[in-house]
Amino acid sequence: MSAEFPYVRPRRLRQSPAMRRLVAETRLHPAELILPLFVREGVREPVPVTSMPGVVQHTRDTLRKAVVEAAEAGVGGVMLFGVPQVQDATGSEGTNPDGILQQAIRDVVAEVGDSVVIMSDLCLDEYTDHGHCGVLAADGSVDNDATLERYAEMARVQADAGVHLVGPSGMMDGQIAVIRKALDESGHQDTGILAYTAKYASAFFGPFREAVGSSLKGDRKAYQQDPANAREALRELEQDLAEGADMVMVKPAMAYLDIVRQIADASPVPVSAYQVSGEYAMVEAAAANGWIDRERMIMETLTSIRRAGAEQILTYWAVEAARMLK
Ligand code: PBG
Repeated sequence: MSAEFPYVRPRRLRQSPAMRRLVAETRLHPAELILPLFVREGVREPVPVTSMPGVVQHTRDTLRKAVVEAAEAGVGGVMLFGVPQVQDATGSEGTNPDGILQQAIRDVVAEVGDSVVIMSDLCLDEYTDHGHCGVLAADGSVDNDATLERYAEMARVQADAGVHLVGPSGMMDGQIAVIRKALDESGHQDTGILAYTAKYASAFFGPFREAVGSSLKGDRKAYQQDPANAREALRELEQDLAEGADMVMVKPAMAYLDIVRQIADASPVPVSAYQVSGEYAMVEAAAANGWIDRERMIMETLTSIRRAGAEQILTYWAVEAARMLK
């Protein structure tokens, strides 16, 4: 009786590693991985981020080495975050031409040139003493349009420092248009924008707050998207494209793969996804307990994000994954 059934045998194509490799629909490549890196002002040694085992806040010197290491591993880009010594109400260090992020951009561009794409976070939360992504109005809310003026200035100083792509992550309305205009008017027509298009008010960002020394007390629900909503991600996409985004991003990744798919289907520009600090921390913590196979988990999560439609993935495992892929 089993002579005829089952006559459809999908297992034929799963029989050997060679067969599986031949028919794999999704392939990862080091060039599409982007490594987020933290650089902290005023430290002599790298400072470990406790909630992200293996991740550190770099000194300017170790940052340079980390970028060289990433380039040698074939990673496509790095996303730099600055951790300043001084935070204040308006995030002054974010627009200081000699602020830590601007210095770091100059350092790494001098070190690796055009061999790897240098990106920088364009947001105020690392620089403000209240920890919000913008400046506050008298009533304590985040003032959208006053924040845009600060972003325009950040774009100018980061581009002056030589960054290739700025990554606005503050979810202010109109931010891409204002940044594009500021870049064009300051002679930086060739500096691109990787827009954080669909960024959700997520608990998955928890460990990042330690990584950048954020002092945020409340939450970001009045500017980041509600996890309950998918449709508004498409509206954000439309807006960011109209304002001049060169690339768009969905963030976090794993809990938002449906959003990645919808944006990927609708977007005429490259779509990235950010596997964020909490996604990293969960896997590392479970692996440290011996509960999961760490390397398989890294590859499976990255493959899933790629399969959902993201073409670039920001991941703290970028260098390790790139080496595994070689
Ligand atoms: C904002 C920013 C955040 C992350 C990247 N850019 C934090 C936030 O919005 O609260 C999170 C990255 C991560 O969790 O890995 N500058």
